[in-house]
Amino acid sequence: MKTSDPGTTPVPEWLGRRLAAAGGSVPFLDYMEWVLHDPDHGAYGRGRLSIGPGGDFATAPSLGGEFARLLAPQLAQWLALLPGDGPLALVETGPGEGHLALQLAEALQAGWPALAARTELVLVEPNAGMAERQRQRLQTCPLPARWTDFETLASAPLHGVVLAHEVLDALAVERIERKGDGWCRQRVVLQGDGLGLEAAEPLSGPQLDQLAELGLLPLDGRRPEGWCTELHPGLPPWLAACAGAITQGWLLVIDYALEARRYYAPQRSRGTLMAYRRQQASDALLREPGQWDLTAHLCLESLEEAARATGWCPLGTCRQGQALLALGLAGRLHALQQAQATRLAELLQRRESLLRLVDPAGLGDFRWVGFRRDGAAATPELEPSFLSQPSL
Ligand SMILES: C[S@@+](CC[C@H](N)C(=O)[O-])C[C@H]1O[C@@H](n2cnc3c(N)ncnc32)[C@H](O)[C@@H]1O
Repeated sequence: MKTSDPGTTPVPEWLGRRLAAAGGSVPFLDYMEWVLHDPDHGAYGRGRLSIGPGGDFATAPSLGGEFARLLAPQLAQWLALLPGDGPLALVETGPGEGHLALQLAEALQAGWPALAARTELVLVEPNAGMAERQRQRLQTCPLPARWTDFETLASAPLHGVVLAHEVLDALAVERIERKGDGWCRQRVVLQGDGLGLEAAEPLSGPQLDQLAELGLLPLDGRRPEGWCTELHPGLPPWLAACAGAITQGWLLVIDYALEARRYYAPQRSRGTLMAYRRQQASDALLREPGQWDLTAHLCLESLEEAARATGWCPLGTCRQGQALLALGLAGRLHALQQAQATRLAELLQRRESLLRLVDPAGLGDFRWVGFRRDGAAATPELEPSFLSQPSL
């Protein structure tokens, strides 16, 4: 069955050529990889997307420095726990515009100068267009900074912390659809002047195994014809590469995520994929290829399972609102109320951004998921600060 995407627009020449060369269609996974990460045409690949309140979409660090100042004590706690007094790495993957990397470097330098003196900022960014923007922003970075990839890091791994803030949602996903008695992989097909989605390729072994692990196979009967969702084949290799990059340390994933029972609920019949551009959200996934960001939520169980299998020990998860309260957000709001009224506009703006970070209908619903690389902590039972009870 072929379905037209109502948001389809004329196919750019580069994509038409590629689809034709592939026989007229490719799995949605390949399409998503191309339109996001192709170095010449992808929305991130050529650095077309801009992040911030005036850009295509805003992320927590793009709203100002409050988010990084709240997160910094957690990173400092983890860095300080690493054994020895040798060099440390603060690895940020998918640094976007470089907001968070710069703000964290400044916060570490200001609050923990002895740790900062041992810490190198390591940026892992596969998209040259984005890396160029990060270099511009980090010109004033107080810590030494370098750009590399996980493979290079693995040849000389360090102790450290890896941060993945809103990056795993940019990994290409498989889109699968319920069809007859089984499941099919969706493909993007050339359809006249536009693009369409086709579900004609029955799922094969590894994907069926993943569905079974998620408990979806026995539930087939509860998913109507045409019900579709996503699988995340990019997660295990990403987590394995990331694990090889540090000898001892932590990984903190912060992203949109749902438990499997909510992700794969019968009523979530179109999955979680969304397109973003110029502060607009759309479910027209095939519109203006290479111009829009495409993102899918993470499935918490799939993430934790893949992490365990690649040498990470899950520490726990909570919503961003709770994590930031545990890290002192209420105290910061209180301090703003006591501050000099002469800086009213600035104080109101900071208050607004703090409240936005914990808004349960927005950024506050993001998930923080912590992992430890075996042997990382001298005291492994020590709970990460972000999971402790908020002090109000
Ligand atoms: C949504 S932006 C997040 C930016 C930033 N972390 C923030 O929160 O403002 C996604 C970033 O991840 C990068 N990215 C995409 N795939 C990646 C991968 N496999 N590894 C590392 N970074 C990736 C993109 O180029 C982009 O810089």
